[in-house]
Amino acid sequence: MSKYLITGGCGFLGSNIAARLIRSGLPVVTFDNMSRVGAHENLKWLRELGLKEHVHGDLRQFDDVASVVRAHQPDAVFHLAGQVAMTTSLQRPRLDFETNALGTLNLLEAVRESVPQAAFLFSSTNKVYGDLTHHRHEETETRYVMPEFPGGLPETLPLEFQSPYGCSKGAADQYVLDYARMFGLNTVVFRHSSMYGGRQFATYDQGWIGWFCGQSLLQAQGRGEPFTVSGNGKQVRDVLHADDMADLYISAAALASTCRGQAFNIGGGVENSLSIIELLRFLESELSTKLRWVQMPPRASDQRFFVADITRARSALGWSPKIDWRSGVRKMLGWVRDNGCRL
Ligand SMILES: NC(=O)c1ccc[n+]([C@@H]2O[C@H](COP(=O)([O-])OP(=O)(O)OC[C@H]3O[C@@H](n4cnc5c(N)ncnc54)[C@H](O)[C@@H]3O)[C@@H](O)[C@H]2O)c1
Repeated sequence: MSKYLITGGCGFLGSNIAARLIRSGLPVVTFDNMSRVGAHENLKWLRELGLKEHVHGDLRQFDDVASVVRAHQPDAVFHLAGQVAMTTSLQRPRLDFETNALGTLNLLEAVRESVPQAAFLFSSTNKVYGDLTHHRHEETETRYVMPEFPGGLPETLPLEFQSPYGCSKGAADQYVLDYARMFGLNTVVFRHSSMYGGRQFATYDQGWIGWFCGQSLLQAQGRGEPFTVSGNGKQVRDVLHADDMADLYISAAALASTCRGQAFNIGGGVENSLSIIELLRFLESELSTKLRWVQMPPRASDQRFFVADITRARSALGWSPKIDWRSGVRKMLGWVRDNGCRL
């Protein structure tokens, strides 16, 4: 029976995958420094589900990382811990670098030393392709469109690291791929678009679907002030529900040795592309309320459009998303309603 180590196991993605494994009776170790809002709630929830092994440690400390890998000898490592907000990376570039770039190198070295045969799956980001402004964008009433890419953006796009977050995740992404080339590790990179779902304690800085669900619920309950939208709200992402993301990691772990050294663009695909304005209109109709918001300048280096071409993931991993965005956002609204909205 495989043993799984999940860094960032008390975060949004990590706790969803951990829960799925625990429910299947598989052994899981979570590793987290508990810095994220909601990490303690997620750990409590995982323990109630049956999590037995949690290690409080910091990716930035090689000894923490090496000792968890050495002690638990995982067959699969899901590397999801990280500094996740673009805004924080601009305020604290050193923290961002040490967590994402150095932290990933620490983990790769620990795996190379103790379990070089393990599957190693890394959550990278579509931000490694930069802000894509040199491509043609068109505007409709509710969204941006990139007419050159009707099927989404492929992995063959040139890399262009922008912002400290883009640089630190991009460096990690390249190290992970290179450890397959240079050291024969079974490493695979997933370049994610936006994800959402239960256990995402969204903040203003990260987790836009959850955050807008929370703000909209507060307004529907007569408690919220107008919220802010950065840019004109026509920014598009192909959103992926956490259940589909958990399927991806668990099924891909068994294929890591055949897919090693490859990067995959991952998202909900063209059918699940969604702009902020379209999300807000959907929430207005679900909550029977007229939402009030204030437009702000665009965030630095924010892509106006990113929809992943998921052809490579479909054919190499046999994976495709199953949850359409409307039913997923309804589920998310329910989760935010039950777990409280943060202002
Ligand atoms: N959620 C998304 O939409 C999205 C999109 C693109 C990429 N990603 C990537 O996926 C990964 C997981 O994202 P998430 O949404 O679950 O984020 P999250 O913030 O919910 O989870 C990250 C976890 O890492 C932990 N952590 C942070 N710094 C650490 C450190 N130094 N040592 C140990 N643990 C540390 C945090 O406490 C948190 O529990 C991240 O690497 C992120 O960059 C996420």
